[in-house]
Amino acid sequence: MFVGILGVPYLTISSMNDQEKLQALADSLPAGSPPQVITIASQKGGVGKTTLTMLTATYLYALGMRIMVIDADKPQHSIHKMRLKELNDLNGDAALKAVYDEKGLSPYKIIESSIDEAGNVLPIIIDSGQFDYIFLDLPGTLNVAGMSVLASHIDKLIIPMEQDQKTFASGFETVAFYRSIKPEIPIGLLWNRIKPSESKTFMKAVNDHASMNVGLHILNTVFFDRVTLKRSSSTLHPSDDELLVNFIRELISEGGFLHI
Ligand SMILES: Nc1ncnc2c1ncn2[C@@H]1O[C@H](COP(=O)(O)OP(=O)(O)OP(=O)(O)O)[C@@H](O)[C@H]1O
Ligand SMILES: [Mg+2]
Repeated sequence: MFVGILGVPYLTISSMNDQEKLQALADSLPAGSPPQVITIASQKGGVGKTTLTMLTATYLYALGMRIMVIDADKPQHSIHKMRLKELNDLNGDAALKAVYDEKGLSPYKIIESSIDEAGNVLPIIIDSGQFDYIFLDLPGTLNVAGMSVLASHIDKLIIPMEQDQKTFASGFETVAFYRSIKPEIPIGLLWNRIKPSESKTFMKAVNDHASMNVGLHILNTVFFDRVTLKRSSSTLHPSDDELLVNFIRELISEGGFLHI
């Protein structure tokens, strides 16, 4: 169940501040059974899969959604490691811990696994009915044992894209792989690590091709290369970076990617 601070949403009340509006949107999402399994994936390394997964999962959790993250990027397991480090930092700082405890929200679950294990446990986690959204962080390589089984359980795929030819090629190979397993899977294209000064010509050409010829859903939020985004990615504390807030709004608004 989504238990938001506002309860029943009244989306038209103009006095609501931005955070309240976002919370109201979150509260208006149907409680998730069955849950959605979401992965932000690409064969291209370093394109922001783990960072965007963490930012998104933590924000949705803070809005009251029941989240689990399966960190199947072995052996790095960066999200799981980040959680351990953050808990360690929290436990070593009484003031920080007091602030966190005041929220009364225990951290969402993160499990570390291999691709094979993730494919085995995912149906059990889905059937448990305990989660609204299950995020999977995956390695770039698709040619690993168990990947096809795992891919068959994924409901939504987001492909992060950077403005270079290599990312473009890897991104579309990733699309082809998931489509070969699940032809109807909704796939979003998300621009990440964009430099504000760089030309948007390539981005526009890719968007046109992706939406018209490949049937991808182009996410409007463009994540710039920002040190604040990098620094604020956490498994405990939601980032307040405006780009992330826009992205979350885009996901959960009526007709947004989490509704299709
Ligand atoms: N929008 C952004 N602005 C600034 N830094 C970013 C942004 N997105 C990602 N990064 C940084 O880029 C680096 C690579 O990101 P990340 O580890 O999330 O990529 P990945 O696709 O998961 O990589 P891998 O293929 O190794 O798993 C990290 O240092 C991360 O902090
Ligand atoms: Mg990663």
